[in-house]
Amino acid sequence: MALLLATPTQKPDAWVRAFGRQAPELEVRVWPECGDPAGISFIVAWETPPGFFTRFPNLKCIASLGAGVDHLLGDPELPKGVFVTRVIDPSITSQMSEYVLLHVLRFCRHSARFDQDAAREVWQPRIPMRPADLTVGIMGLGQLGLGAAAMLAGLDFPVIGWRRTPGEVAGVKTFSGREALPAFLAKSRVLVCMLPLTPRTRGILNATVFSQLPVGAYVINVARGAHLIEADLLAALDRDHLAGACLDVFQTEPLPAGNPLWHHPKVTITPHIASLTNPFEVVGQMLVNYRRVEAGERPQPIVDVGRGY
Ligand SMILES: NC(=O)c1ccc[n+]([C@@H]2O[C@H](COP(=O)([O-])OP(=O)(O)OC[C@H]3O[C@@H](n4cnc5c(N)ncnc54)[C@H](OP(=O)(O)O)[C@@H]3O)[C@@H](O)[C@H]2O)c1
Repeated sequence: MALLLATPTQKPDAWVRAFGRQAPELEVRVWPECGDPAGISFIVAWETPPGFFTRFPNLKCIASLGAGVDHLLGDPELPKGVFVTRVIDPSITSQMSEYVLLHVLRFCRHSARFDQDAAREVWQPRIPMRPADLTVGIMGLGQLGLGAAAMLAGLDFPVIGWRRTPGEVAGVKTFSGREALPAFLAKSRVLVCMLPLTPRTRGILNATVFSQLPVGAYVINVARGAHLIEADLLAALDRDHLAGACLDVFQTEPLPAGNPLWHHPKVTITPHIASLTNPFEVVGQMLVNYRRVEAGERPQPIVDVGRGY
């Protein structure tokens, strides 16, 4: 059976090369040239249109080519009984940890203010904040959240975390469930969103959450644009409740021309690059899963479709 690469919003070339290098014997088809749909058992997918998978009668596994699966689980016609997997890889975790650390340190060191000063030839010293005084609250203590927590704790930032289920994490005070959210937010001088996008987390970065953060807090969103109510963020920044924000993901990507976030002096924008999947580093795990499902075994890690992540 063949493997199909279906990545309508991304060029598939590097994936084709990576599969060709590691499994030259495997028949890899590339959307939109799917051939006979009955000959496809495994699809590596990213941002396929709704209903896309219904045409493959012998499909066994859909593999997200990234860590997130919201682009798959949002499909109301996602076939039942087909495994959904995602990528977990040390390179994805380390890139994300580096991104978060970079922007926490930039906040600590007033870097955005110095950039603005330099553009106007202003010499204005500002005393750095001490890591020990800056509690970083991480929403989502999964693969990515735990990596960032460890890196920040290693530089003496107090780290706290919020997750869905109770569970201890060494060196990180954890809060779980909606009822614990206000207490977690009240302590978070920097708030980092690393949650999966699910019906329960959509829009979670909103006016209520911002009002529960300490005055002068900084918000980093590296999860999904739909976690954030952009108008609520702008309002919290403009009334000086929040000191700033760093956004890697947006409701609409690319961020449209004219969006007020582009030119807001307190907002740092990056184009969804916090952590990128390197095909050459992750096709190995996809090939293992392809062979598993062909042998009638379960792939790993299986996404819990009902839970949403
Ligand atoms: N910007 C980028 O470049 C980029 C790159 C990769 C990934 N991402 C995003 O990052 C997300 C997180 O990835 P991951 O691999 O760390 O995910 P993960 O391993 O599945 O971890 C998810 C974490 O979120 C928590 N969570 C889920 N629903 C929750 C809820 N309703 N309330 C509180 N906590 C909740 C989970 O709690 P439990 O521990 O209790 O289960 C878990 O700790 C991805 O889904 C993706 O959208 C962005």
